[in-house]
Amino acid sequence: MSAKFQSVRGMRDVLPDEVATWQHVEQVVRDVLSAYAYKEVRLPVVEVAELFTHAIGDATDVVSKEMYTFADRSGEQLSLRPEGTAGCVRAVIQNGLVHRGGPGHKLWYQGPMFRYEKPQRGRYRCFNQIGAEVYGFPGPGVDAELVCLCARIWRLLGLEGIRLEVNTLATRDTRDTYRAVLLDYFQANADQLDADSQVRLEKNVLRILDSKNPEMRDLIEQAPALIDYLDTESEQHFGQFCELLDTAGVAYTVNPRLVRGLDYYSRTVFEFITESLGAQGTICGGGRYDYLVEQQGGPPTPAVGFSMGLERIVELVSLKTPVSGVQPHVYVVARGEVAVSAAFGLCERLRDELPWLRIEQNAGGGSFKAQFKRADRSGASFAMVIGEGEVQQQLVSLKSLRTDDEQAQVAMDALSKELNTLRAQSRL
Ligand code: HAM
Repeated sequence: MSAKFQSVRGMRDVLPDEVATWQHVEQVVRDVLSAYAYKEVRLPVVEVAELFTHAIGDATDVVSKEMYTFADRSGEQLSLRPEGTAGCVRAVIQNGLVHRGGPGHKLWYQGPMFRYEKPQRGRYRCFNQIGAEVYGFPGPGVDAELVCLCARIWRLLGLEGIRLEVNTLATRDTRDTYRAVLLDYFQANADQLDADSQVRLEKNVLRILDSKNPEMRDLIEQAPALIDYLDTESEQHFGQFCELLDTAGVAYTVNPRLVRGLDYYSRTVFEFITESLGAQGTICGGGRYDYLVEQQGGPPTPAVGFSMGLERIVELVSLKTPVSGVQPHVYVVARGEVAVSAAFGLCERLRDELPWLRIEQNAGGGSFKAQFKRADRSGASFAMVIGEGEVQQQLVSLKSLRTDDEQAQVAMDALSKELNTLRAQSRL
């Protein structure tokens, strides 16, 4: 029977069987972020639409094709956030976290992002990112720190075969010079541009390099590369960044074609890519955006960050070592009104006395046989059996569901002690 309502196309539910892997990934990422002294910020999912247009650039796919934008009841144009950086910049300016010459900030956030893309494996219209953003440090040290932090996360998650590509997009001035060179090149080859690229030629020629159309690949491959037009300062910054990665033993390749899909980048950019997920193999991307804070009305503040796509990382982890979910220690089987009511009170008392205990009470009645089946399926180590006879004698029967050990009878008063002992013996 199909449900009356379906989730929105490209938006998926994460069901209990998958949640254990999600929680594991999130925990590892959070632990590493706090080990590097990053602090969490929680940001709204909705921002004024113009924030994104302004920050991300109106010639990007994200802004021109993928935003969920709507008018609220007062007629204000709002968007579901397609990414976290723009909102984070808004928040640090609005809350006075960045001020001229003030201390730097290392922040991280997590949450759903929304892009109206064509759904496919690893590409959703509602997806989750964990991102980190650092404000106030111009040197390449934080760029390298962010990359090392990510590489550490992949190691701790046991992920292998993840490639790191790096590039530099230089300073604004250098990019202006390069833009002119690129404009000449694409104008000279205008007959080979697809419709999208014709528009980009007008709006922001650099975005043509980001085209995903295979028919444009050769033309893009042969285009002049920014790396050949670098100013000394950008070259040094990038050189030091690469040296720091060498020092840390993090392998990378320089990809002069790596431009990233958002307009705010300058200097360092990087992506982590896997071949194990099909076409959507980029699990994490980021870079420097030294002009964005100022462009959004804040004081000139260098900044750098990354975001990782959790759906893709969770899929990679599941392919390798799925994480099993949390199971109850004890499943309570009770039959008859008196026993069910006594079991209810007993469970609550045990939860008071043993906060570590995971105890599931049978729901929905059923014969002893049916309840034992559920107990087995629950994954619990023990069944705690309570019938009317047990209630009269104020005891319960404890039966191991995973070993052939004899069933034991335990006085209700002595249950906490007995469960503590079983735990100490690692039998629960
Ligand atoms: P982004 O490259 O657009 O960068 O996205 C970062 C990551 O989010 C991607 O590498 C991918 O893993 C995941 N992702 C993106 N779109 C989808 C989708 N439709 N479905 C599933 N996963 C997706 C940013 O968002 C920048 N804000 C990163 C950044 C932070 N740069 C500086 N600071």
